[in-house]
Amino acid sequence: MKYQISIEGGTAFTVAAEEDTLLRGALRAGMALPHECSVGGCGACRFDLVDGLMESVWPEAPGLSERDRKRGKYLACQSRPLGDCTIRVRCDESYRPAVRAHRSAAELLARRALTPDMSEFTFRVPGATEFRPGQYALLYLPRTPGARAYSMANLPNEEGIWKFVIRRVPGGSGSNALFDQVGIGESIVFDGPYGHAYLREDSPRDIVCIAGGSGLAPMLSVARGALADGGSRRVHFFYGARGQADLGALDALEKLAEDERLALSVVLSAPESTWKGPTGFVHEEVERNLTAPLGSYDFYFAGPPPMIEAIQALLMHKHQVPFGQIRFDRFV
Ligand SMILES: Cc1cc2nc3c(=O)[nH]c(=O)nc-3n(C[C@H](O)[C@H](O)[C@H](O)COP(=O)(O)OP(=O)(O)OC[C@H]3O[C@@H](n4cnc5c(N)ncnc54)[C@H](O)[C@@H]3O)c2cc1C
Ligand code: FES
Repeated sequence: MKYQISIEGGTAFTVAAEEDTLLRGALRAGMALPHECSVGGCGACRFDLVDGLMESVWPEAPGLSERDRKRGKYLACQSRPLGDCTIRVRCDESYRPAVRAHRSAAELLARRALTPDMSEFTFRVPGATEFRPGQYALLYLPRTPGARAYSMANLPNEEGIWKFVIRRVPGGSGSNALFDQVGIGESIVFDGPYGHAYLREDSPRDIVCIAGGSGLAPMLSVARGALADGGSRRVHFFYGARGQADLGALDALEKLAEDERLALSVVLSAPESTWKGPTGFVHEEVERNLTAPLGSYDFYFAGPPPMIEAIQALLMHKHQVPFGQIRFDRFV
């Protein structure tokens, strides 16, 4: 069974009744519905229900403020249509999916510890792996309500391999379920790819990748994608972590830095006394280290919200880098 969703003053599309949310159904139908995180945290997918019935799958989702709730707003990533509906939302071409997402079983092939709390997980999904470097997938984990977003660290491939670098969050239900309850050879439900902070291949500008903590995963993919295209663009890669114990993923970065087009800077915010490299916050090192005006680069960054806000302030307010040169994922 399918429901027809009409956008007030615009077009209409259909969503399968078994689809878990309006957003996923709309993107699978190729609609350019605004969104960012897909998991209820950012509020970018807010819409008004004009007619019909909609169920909220996570009514307390932080992406809606109290004011939004009082005004009857919904989150597309946390709502399911219960019949034909009319919604009010402003579609935007930049959100049209680059690759149509699909839902499938994903088998866990390998788990490799990188740091005390971060591991690389390798999954296999039937069919070739198709995504843009910088995109993420949704994983449905045992005894965890909703989906969790995790960014791919590898590149598209024919073998159906999807690699993720995931941090165990203290008390977090999804990340702990993945570390403790999904065994090698077991399968979980996977849905992807999603996200629009992906590498734009057609830009002539040098690239700056800035990763904080587990934000490393999508930045590895963006850097790998930029180097793989064989062009002359340089990649300036900044990795911010707390201390030396967090540097277990450095081997992958050092391997990338063997390509002379990539310059690597690692900065620690709380290093031990033996650390000889730069210290402080990663955005401070970006400003110290880059020699050309910041407006001459394309920026990609991913990590915790405070890091994202500090980099946005640096780029957008202090250096007036055009918005079209800035792409990021906030790990809400
Ligand atoms: C675009 C994006 C990409 C990300 N990429 C990575 C990555 O590559 N590596 C990495 O380690 N982390 C990544 N994260 C963070 C990751 O998605 C999780 O937030 C993190 O692992 C903590 O999840 P948890 O279940 O352990 O913690 P919890 O605190 O249990 O859950 C937090 C997350 O689950 C959602 N959530 C909580 N309760 C519910 C509910 N009842 N119903 C539905 N959703 C709920 C929240 O919106 C939040 O996203 C990414 C986040 C985003 C938004
Ligand atoms: S995309 Fe729905 S809250 Fe972020």
